[in-house]
Amino acid sequence: MERTGSNFAAARAPATVANVAVGFDVLGFPVDAVGDTVRVELMDGPTVLIDSIEDGGVAIPMDAAANTAGVALLGLIRTEGLAHGFRLRIRKGIPLSSGMGGSAASSVAALVAANALLETPLPPERLLPHALAGEELASGSPHGDNAAPCLYGGLVILRSTEPVEVVRLPVPRGLCVALVHPHRELDTRTSRGALPRDLPLRDYVAQSARLAAFVASCFMDDLALMSRSLEDVLVEPRRASLVPAFAAVKRAALKAGALGCSLSGSGPSVFALCDGIVSARRACEAMGSAWAAAGVSSDAWASPLAGGGARLVDWTPGTLA
Ligand code: HSE
Repeated sequence: MERTGSNFAAARAPATVANVAVGFDVLGFPVDAVGDTVRVELMDGPTVLIDSIEDGGVAIPMDAAANTAGVALLGLIRTEGLAHGFRLRIRKGIPLSSGMGGSAASSVAALVAANALLETPLPPERLLPHALAGEELASGSPHGDNAAPCLYGGLVILRSTEPVEVVRLPVPRGLCVALVHPHRELDTRTSRGALPRDLPLRDYVAQSARLAAFVASCFMDDLALMSRSLEDVLVEPRRASLVPAFAAVKRAALKAGALGCSLSGSGPSVFALCDGIVSARRACEAMGSAWAAAGVSSDAWASPLAGGGARLVDWTPGTLA
């Protein structure tokens, strides 16, 4: 990780698709087209101040102890025994409660920028636990399937959080994503609340088979196998009713030729994996039209899978990420 040698730094962290249908809480990838940017400045005293949040709406707390990025940096200060603190300016590019990993992106961007200001910058495995604390604050659960791909980049499996072990999967040639965000909010806490504590053994068996076959398809460069594997029997059926017109949107993506389609993270955004960018654009259009037919407006992004993780950037006044 780099060091800036200055008293401030800014980092941009991408949106992420978590779960990827078959890897609940462990599998994810970044979507670089959308992201949050955080500017971090050194200050005296081991504390965190949030100076501003742009485009976050009223829902994002300015109190550091109640803010995901703030909590992440408070954790960093505590565990590293830092004598100084940080002041933050947060610029939200990722829509709130969209299932696109906005809380993870703010924490990760803050951590990457703060890390660049440390005397000896830390490796990513020492930063990730603080991003997980941010996730716990935001959703009640320290899941890492947004934070890990956001920090590391690529299609990754979080094998373990203690100790942190992130496994990078190869991405089959031409694999692209269509990500569509309906203009609705769905809180991760609510979406997690739709899941029972115990799940039937037969669903676990079916989902394990699909996850294993998905991983194999990455190594085998086999999009047909990936397509057969991309089915969530565990979580999606229990959350589908929380997303308006989900069944129609999924049907539209598959009819447009997508390899598979499911909720992005906890929803309400929906992603589809596609063979090539043309197919991904077609899937975006089909899903957007299905939502429009249900009276829901949306935004869409099509891009190759899977870009890099958070990176240092210049902080340009007034420009959105
Ligand atoms: N794995 C998490 C969930 C991701 O589905 O609840 C939340 O973005």
